[in-house]
This record gives sequence, C-alpha cells and structure tokens, in this order.
Amino acid sequence: MPDEQFTFELIFEKEEFQGKVKLAYQDVFVAKGAKGPGPTLEEMLISEVAPYRKQDVKKRDSQEIRIAVDALLSKMSITDKIGQMSQCMSTNISLGTDIESESPEKLIREGRAGSVLAAVNSYRVFELQKIAVEQSPHGIPLLFNFDVIHGFQTVFPVPLAWSCSWDLEAIQEACSIAAREATASGITYNHGPMVDVTRDPRWGRVVEGAGEDPYLGSLIAKAQVEGYQGNNLHDPESLIACLKHFIAYGAAEAGRDYNTVDISEGTLRNVYLPPFQAGIEAGAGSVMNAFNTYQGVPVAGNRYILNDLLRDELGFDGILISDYGSIDEIVAHGNAKDSKEAAKKALDATLDIEMVTRSYDYLHELIEQGLVRVEQLDEAVRRILTYKYKIGIMDDPFRYIRPEKEQEYHFNVSHLEASRDLARKSIVMLKNNGVLPLASKESKVAVIGPFGDSQDLLGPWQWSRYANKTVTLRQGLEEQGVSAERIIIEEGCKVEAAIQGGLERAVAAAREADIVILALGESSEMSGEAASRMDITLPKIQQELAEAVVKAGKPTVLVLTNGRPLILGWFERNVDAILETWFLGSQAGHAIADVLFGNYNPSGRLTMSFPAHIGQVPVYYNHFSTGRPVTESNKHLKFFSKYIDGPNEPLYPFGYGLSYTKFEYTDIRLSHSRMNAAETITASVVVSNTGTVQGEETVQLYIQDICGSVVRPVKELKGFKKVTLAGGEARKITFNITAAELAFWNADRHYEAEPGEFKVYIGPNSRDVKEASFELIPLEEET
Ligand code: BGC
Repeated sequence: MPDEQFTFELIFEKEEFQGKVKLAYQDVFVAKGAKGPGPTLEEMLISEVAPYRKQDVKKRDSQEIRIAVDALLSKMSITDKIGQMSQCMSTNISLGTDIESESPEKLIREGRAGSVLAAVNSYRVFELQKIAVEQSPHGIPLLFNFDVIHGFQTVFPVPLAWSCSWDLEAIQEACSIAAREATASGITYNHGPMVDVTRDPRWGRVVEGAGEDPYLGSLIAKAQVEGYQGNNLHDPESLIACLKHFIAYGAAEAGRDYNTVDISEGTLRNVYLPPFQAGIEAGAGSVMNAFNTYQGVPVAGNRYILNDLLRDELGFDGILISDYGSIDEIVAHGNAKDSKEAAKKALDATLDIEMVTRSYDYLHELIEQGLVRVEQLDEAVRRILTYKYKIGIMDDPFRYIRPEKEQEYHFNVSHLEASRDLARKSIVMLKNNGVLPLASKESKVAVIGPFGDSQDLLGPWQWSRYANKTVTLRQGLEEQGVSAERIIIEEGCKVEAAIQGGLERAVAAAREADIVILALGESSEMSGEAASRMDITLPKIQQELAEAVVKAGKPTVLVLTNGRPLILGWFERNVDAILETWFLGSQAGHAIADVLFGNYNPSGRLTMSFPAHIGQVPVYYNHFSTGRPVTESNKHLKFFSKYIDGPNEPLYPFGYGLSYTKFEYTDIRLSHSRMNAAETITASVVVSNTGTVQGEETVQLYIQDICGSVVRPVKELKGFKKVTLAGGEARKITFNITAAELAFWNADRHYEAEPGEFKVYIGPNSRDVKEASFELIPLEEET
C-alpha cells in the first residue's frame, strides 16, 4: 500500500518510569484515511487480505493439537521459544537504553516476539502477521492482544456501571458484541475482564471492575468470559479472555495504584479469589498477574500464587501473561537484584508471556548456567502454541483479519441498541423526592455543568473511532422531544477549572428555567489506571457551581458522570434527585434521557458502597463484626468501634438504588429451621409493587454465619433475583440455601460450611432487610 495513500499513525505519550520509558499508549490512535478519490482503506485491505485467507480449514481436536504442538516444539531453538514467550508493542517505540530501537518488525522477523500488544488497526495487524508468517524462523503466527474492557468501536458502559445492572445476560451480550467487533479487526486475545474485587473508591481502577462483592463479582466474571469467548474459541468471532489481575491488586493500600498489598490468606481466599475461580471454571484461556506483592513476594515471581494456587489448586492450564513490565518490576520491589533474577523468578512461577519488557531474553543465560531448565520453557511454549492452534491461526493465520466484517459490525445499529439498553440498566437513582420523572417536555430546562453537552461519556480504556458520535445529554433530551428552544445549555465551569463568568451565567440560566439538570462529574482521565484520587468529592469548582445554582431555588436534578463512588452528602441534602450514570458509553445521552422522562424506570443497584465521608474509606457492606460492634443500645456510649465525628455507615449502601415505583417485602418464611450440609432450606418473601407504574426490583439474599472458626462478615450476598412487577402486582420470591452458600475458607485452611447458627436477610439492598435464622447441624444428625 503506497505511503501517500495511507498513513497509520500512532501517537504515544511517553513517561519516564523507573529508568525505562513507560508508554501511556492508551491515549491516541489516529488512522488517517486514504487521500483523494479511489478505494477506501477498508476496500484496499479487503482485496489485499483475500488471497491470504484459507477456505475450509478443519478444526483440530485436542489430540491433534497436542501432536502438532510437540512436533513444532521439537524443531524450535531456545531463541524461538523465548520469542513465543515475549510480547512486543505494535509500534516502533524505544523501551529504554538497553533495548533501544528494536522495532516490532525486527523482533517479529527474528522470531523474538510471539504476540503483539495494541495493534488496533486491522491494516497493522495484517502487516505484522505477514512478517511473522513469511519471514520469521518457523512462520508461527502472532497473537494480537488488546484491552477490550467495555466495548471496542461501540462503547458500552464502564464495567463498574454495567455491574450495577445486575443483568448477567446483558453483560454477557455486551462482551460478545465487543468480541465480534474486535476480532473483525484482527484482535485475538483480550486483556480483560478485570475481576478484581474493589473496596476502595480512591483507587482509579474500580471503574474496570464489578465492585465490592465476591459473589456478584463471580457471576459477572463468568458472564464476561462466556461473552468474550463464546462457546468455541475456534470461532473467529471469539476472543481469548484474560482474567486480571491475579491477585488482590484491588487491595492496594490507601487506594493508591501499584501500592503495597498486605492481606491475610482468609481475605485472599474469601474475598479476592472467588471471581477468578468462577472465570477459570467458565474456561478463561488466560490470566494476568497483578503488580502487587502477596505476603512480601511480588506476584510476578510468586510461585505459591501462580503455580501452587492458580495452576495446581484452581486447575488453570491456560496462558499466564505478565502485566506490563511487572517481571522487571520485581527488581524495583526489591525482591530480585536484577532483571535476570527477576526472569528466573517469573519463569519458576510459570509466567508464560512477558508483556513488552525483555527480561525473558535472560533466559538464554539462565539456561546456559543451569539455573532454569529448557523443560520449563517447553511448558510455557506448549501452552501458548496450544492456544494458537485452538483459535485456528496456525492453520489460517489471517482468519481474524476481516475488514468486510469491520464494515458490518463496527458501530452497527443493533450493537448501539444493546449499548443503550445496558446503559439504561446501569443508571442508579440515588435520590428522588418526586421531581423525576420529568413531567412535561414543555418546561424550560437548564442543563448546567461540564457534562451537559460533553462527549466525555465513554470513560477510560476507550479508543473508539466513533468517539465523536457519542450521544450527549443535550442530544438525548432533544431527541426525546424537548425542543432546542426549551433547553438552556450552560457549561458553568470546566471539569476542574473555572470559566470566566461561568458561574454567573449558570445562575442566570437556572433562574430562567423551570427545572435544572446539573450535569457534573469526573473526566474519563480521572479514573482508570494510574488515576487514584485522595479526594473523592467532585472537583471544587463544580461544587461551587452547584452551590450557586441551587440557590436559584429551582427543582434540581444532579446527573453524575464518573468512574467511582463519590462523596455526595451535600448533594443528598440539597438537590431534589440524583442519577448516578457513570460513564455510559456511545449512547449515554439517550439512556439518561430515557430515565429522566420515565421511558425507562431506573433499576440499577449499587455494587460499591458510597462513603458518607472520605475518612470511612474503605467502607463496604461485608465487613466483620469487630469485638465492639455498635448497636442501637450502645450507640451513645464511648468504647465501641465507631467514629466520634460521624457515622460508620456509608451514605448509600451496597445493593441500593431507587425506582419510580415502590416495593414492599413481607417477612421471610423459611422452609425449615434446621438443615444439615446435604440438605436445602428455602427462604421466601412476597414482594409487592405498591405503586402504579411497572418496575424492576432486584431482590437480594444475604447470609451471616454467626460464629465461625474464623470471624465471618456481618452479611454476604448469596443470591438475587430480578423481578418485573406491574403496579399493584405481588410475587413470591424463593431462594434455595445449601451448604455451598455457607462454606468459606476456615481456620483449618480449607473450604467448609461449619455447623451453627446462620442469619438470612432478604431485602432491596444490603441495609434495609428482613431477617430470619436457621441452624446448620452436623451431617450425621437428624433434622
Ligand atoms: C494494565 C493492564 C493492561 C496492560 C496492557 C497495564 O498497565 O495494568 O491491565 O492489560 O497495561 O494494556
């Protein structure tokens, strides 16, 4: 393809990082189209790639794959093997003095890279795959890895948002659409889903996960893996899923990214492990290690975590990939004296692929010195090649590069509908004194704040070429019939900076309007990786704007755009309604307008607690009792576990969210008061919609083990049911409780349901629950 017709330009931001250069590559990918008349870029690629594609390639069974892998392995040199275990970036960027100027082309040609990170453009994928197949020593095709976190070209709500839908099918569908779009561009391997449990909203990466609960997190992990991978990895529309970041990355002290983690084995196993286990059981092909240490040993070189726990105990036999630079970072952690020792530790821990850095080049020397064995390399390469066969690229290396499908799938109308649907389901209404839904489209609406007409609604981890088609709040309102003359848009301020005269104009707009929508929040850059915040209130200037506008005395609705729980006490006290909309993706404005006008009755429920004050953080519902729990009767006394200057409880608890109707719960009925571990108890309530409009309720079941061999949380989610009820309708909701819901990692260091008293709670959120109790008796006893 002639240069003057097409320039593929990747603009990277580089920042100094421990003597190397870390690439903030997430920032900009700019593809400039063909100049002048003539075929489009896609048309050119379609005709170029066509002769490379093979027809009727048979899927190999596992026995055939095993034989093929062994045959190939027997021909490979140590360099070839290390090559498969190394991943390069898709562009020619220096990673520091020692490996300066090694371009991806060179590494691939020499067989020194087996996978490529961030080649989001199918032309680039094609170009690099051709080099691998035609010029590298064994012609082994490359894997193309990318972070497809919440959609590819059609952007879905950020994962924290979609978790609030509690809608596993819709989440799975979002992932399968993302896979369809990404694979059409040649991507074969996702760096997602992120299944870290997150309890600290200061940590920017809470936006990528499913919140604070291990049970819900496990179900969502499974849904995502099944969405990305489909039921057949050989299908060119399925993407290898990678569970990240194994493990306990979310427990970074003080919510500061990459910070120290120091947790007990019980917390590791009862809190952080379940979503990984669920993802592995769902068949995830890959796992990525976490940057942090576990009990003093960086996970990248932690054999107990990666080999003993992940592989031996959980039975994971897929590809283990290092997080970006994390093998090298074992040195900075202070657990290896140099990159060579770090490489040994990582290999001993069974890390198969090194992401982008080149410590694994030292494996040559380590083998020569007898410090690692060739068989260790063979094991890693066997796993990598097995997946290359499984996804079919060994037999048909260009099968994923389908520009004709890109045209069909990217930003396809049905994908946009799915995005809008999930976006509406992800919105959580935190307050409503009756001002919502907006009664009349005839009213004059002042939309005030930096997000009133902004397209910064996609959130972090997004590079969609269609970002400029993101539906803004203003567009959403207009499309639903509020005429442009009735909408006053007033930015008021930037996300973090004042605009001259902005506050004054905003107040004037509020005075002129019948209703005010305050569109406030965080920019996409304020959450995600390396975006921890100490202060999780809205930026000061937005707070000032809100205070000035509220004084105008008009009914005021706060519409929030953000990537983490924020501290909202002032707003709870001073505005009429609050919609938590997170980053909703391509169709954000439509989804918000659907809820504002009541075309969709809000049904989202929080998956992370919203602190009442920053000093409470981390605050989560499934905490332990402590020896001095606060109760109704002791709450005025001194020596109990509480603050002297504020509440223990979060402002909005886990599971919380309002609807335009009201639901009532009867008391819980248990089928039995005793059970043994082989039996089942059913717990039921009748839920009634006492309002007039149809609404969806998420009925939540929590269990508490009153006394265990180690202390147990005051409540743990163990089931939920989503139920749609017409106004006035009632339905009986029943949950089964078995030993599986009661088991935990106990003092004997195994999983067990221990006999004793249990409480059952059922309600609309983790706070407002009905209560009952039963006894688990030893297996040999009669119930
Ligand atoms: C992140 C990973 C991500 C990788 C590649 C790292 O910095 O921690 O989650 O997959 O970059 O983009």
